[in-house]
Amino acid sequence: MCWLRIYFLCLVVTFCILFGVSHSTSDSICVLSDAPQQCGAFCLAALHPLYDQYSKSRQQEHSQEAMVKMIEDFRTEQKKIVNSEEAILKIIADSRAEQKELVNDSQEAMVKIIAESQAEQKEAMVKMIEDFRTEQKELLNHYYLDVRELLNELAANLTSTARRDESTLQSMPVTVPPGFQKIGSKYFLIEDNEWKTWTGAEETCREKGSHLATFRNEDEFEAVARRVHNETIFWLGYRRNSKGEMVRAAGKEESFMMRRLGELNQNGYNENVILYNLSIYYTNYKFALPFICQLDTVQER
Ligand SMILES: *[C@@H]1O[C@H](CO)[C@@H](O)[C@H](O)[C@H]1NC(C)=O
Ligand SMILES: *[C@@H]1O[C@H](CO)[C@@H](O)[C@H](O)[C@H]1NC(C)=O
Ligand SMILES: *[C@@H]1O[C@H](CO)[C@@H](O)[C@H](O)[C@H]1NC(C)=O
Ligand SMILES: *[C@@H]1O[C@H](CO)[C@@H](O)[C@H](O)[C@H]1NC(C)=O
Repeated sequence: MCWLRIYFLCLVVTFCILFGVSHSTSDSICVLSDAPQQCGAFCLAALHPLYDQYSKSRQQEHSQEAMVKMIEDFRTEQKKIVNSEEAILKIIADSRAEQKELVNDSQEAMVKIIAESQAEQKEAMVKMIEDFRTEQKELLNHYYLDVRELLNELAANLTSTARRDESTLQSMPVTVPPGFQKIGSKYFLIEDNEWKTWTGAEETCREKGSHLATFRNEDEFEAVARRVHNETIFWLGYRRNSKGEMVRAAGKEESFMMRRLGELNQNGYNENVILYNLSIYYTNYKFALPFICQLDTVQER
């Protein structure tokens, strides 16, 4: 570019010199009185627009360059801005990821804590229930023991009360129906004036609140048998029931006499039992005989 400019300038100078010379030779319009001066002025005048153009273009070039530089700067700036935006975006993304992680971590921690606390609570609950059950069991055991103790005490008290009642009964004055006398521990009525059949005799005893006599043991039997006349026959309170079994008129069985009657039972069809000559015998008598009643209970006065 520079070489081109220099070349162009030389061309112009050469042209001026030549142009000035020709004018002077032909002696026409242009006569140079002071050739170098005039040519120089001309040249300058001729070159001026060119120079202007040149400086303009130079200015333009400068401004273009400035523009380009500006643009470049702008681009760089923009690039920088873009870069910083990216950086910001990255920071935001990073912070988001971090936040997410934090949230995740805290969530996980929370979930863990909740799970642990739930497990703990459950354990505590299970323990509480177990403790409660154990306690209840113990309480129940204690309760049962207490109840058992109480029942034992009550039973003991009842037994002692019953014993006391019995002794009280025996020592207390009692109301005994007329004609009954105490033989051993029981009251008996020996009836040998008004004779009855077995059924009639039992009926008469019942009217007096008693039954035909039976005996709980040998002593009782002996005591009564010795009290009556040994040659008189008395009805006793035994009979054969519909099944063929000997039973007491009063209902309850007494093993002593039942055994003794069993030993005597040679005639299966005999229906009743009598007392005669200090012994007992089976009989089928249908006629009236003396009889002995016994009181089952004695009423307190
Ligand atoms: C949380 O983190 C766990 C592992 O640490 C991962 O398996 C899970 O996908 C993450 N959850 C979220 C929502 O990022
Ligand atoms: C048993 O008798 C004793 C003494 O009489 C009394 O203190 C106690 O309360 C009685 N027990 C019961 C269970 O009735
Ligand atoms: C009754 O007893 C008397 C005197 O002990 C006796 O002589 C008599 O023979 C007895 N009667 C009978 C039936 O055994
Ligand atoms: C009365 O009993 C006695 C002895 O228990 C006896 O020796 C006597 O023979 C009996 N009398 C009659 C009549 O069965």
